[in-house]
Amino acid sequence: MEKLQAAIEIARKKREAERGEPAVSAPAPAAPDAAAVPPASPDSGTPDTDALWQALPEADLDRATLVRSRILSQSASHESTPFDVLRTKILYQMRQNGWRRLAITSPLPKCGKTTAAVNLALALGRQPELRSMLFDFDLRAPAVAEKLGLDRPPSIAPLLRGERAFADHGRRIGPNLALALSGEAQTDPTRLLMADTTRDTLARIQGDYAPDIMIFDLPSILIGDDARAFLQHVDCALILARADQTRYGDFDSCEREVGEYTNVLGVVLNAYRHGDGRVDAEGGGTVAGQSHG
Ligand SMILES: Nc1ncnc2c1ncn2[C@@H]1O[C@H](COP(=O)(O)OP(=O)(O)O)[C@@H](O)[C@H]1O
Ligand SMILES: [Mg+2]
Repeated sequence: MEKLQAAIEIARKKREAERGEPAVSAPAPAAPDAAAVPPASPDSGTPDTDALWQALPEADLDRATLVRSRILSQSASHESTPFDVLRTKILYQMRQNGWRRLAITSPLPKCGKTTAAVNLALALGRQPELRSMLFDFDLRAPAVAEKLGLDRPPSIAPLLRGERAFADHGRRIGPNLALALSGEAQTDPTRLLMADTTRDTLARIQGDYAPDIMIFDLPSILIGDDARAFLQHVDCALILARADQTRYGDFDSCEREVGEYTNVLGVVLNAYRHGDGRVDAEGGGTVAGQSHG
């Protein structure tokens, strides 16, 4: 545990030194308030874009199902606060750098990637001036729909191959959060994630829907090649480590690998148990995660 925290701290300092500014895992008080965040880009909000967003079918969420899946940020509350802070920090850094695409990954499965990705997306959805998108790109084990309590969606493969329009695949939560859900597991996700058609599809969606931020829930780095194959298509990545599971060596390998392909925005140490028994996540003071056990 100490080794893991020390590794995260070293990684954070390295990034700070490289960029001359604190990474996402900086202590919470360093978080800028929303007013300090530069305004959204002016390219979002043409009448065509508005119409495309409105035309996406809206998904209804059931609060009890969300709570069972530890999805706590649909409305502002004490429980949503860690994700709201994470959202603000991420937005600040991404805007400072002109970045739009954020990957969420971890060394191994069950670190809380999907839980964090969905909570972050819902926290972003509560920012009315922003348009956000969440893509379920863990194609071997898609889980976003289940976490949100939605019916199993169709395969995402036709969308990525350019055979199906986003208008026919995407769903919407509220006016400004869109979902690209993934249903049936893919047998060769690496090839799909690396394909030129996937790159072109994402560029088209980004052009048509003008999202301020696109979140990609990816597989784990140390299992297969899928996440690695896709990291070239994002601007930055957030790494989830799990205090009660992630081993120091695995975190270290993951951090290095991700850093070879994209910018490491920060690290979230999930399910961190404080001395007083409180459980949340950390990473030099950051963020996210609840435990009911
Ligand atoms: N902070 C936390 N405390 C306790 N359980 C958690 C926490 N974060 C996630 N979980 C649970 O751990 C399991 C794995 O989380 P998930 O988000 O599906 O991980 P991943 O996407 O990395 O495989 C889920 O059952 C989830 O509810
Ligand atoms: Mg997952």
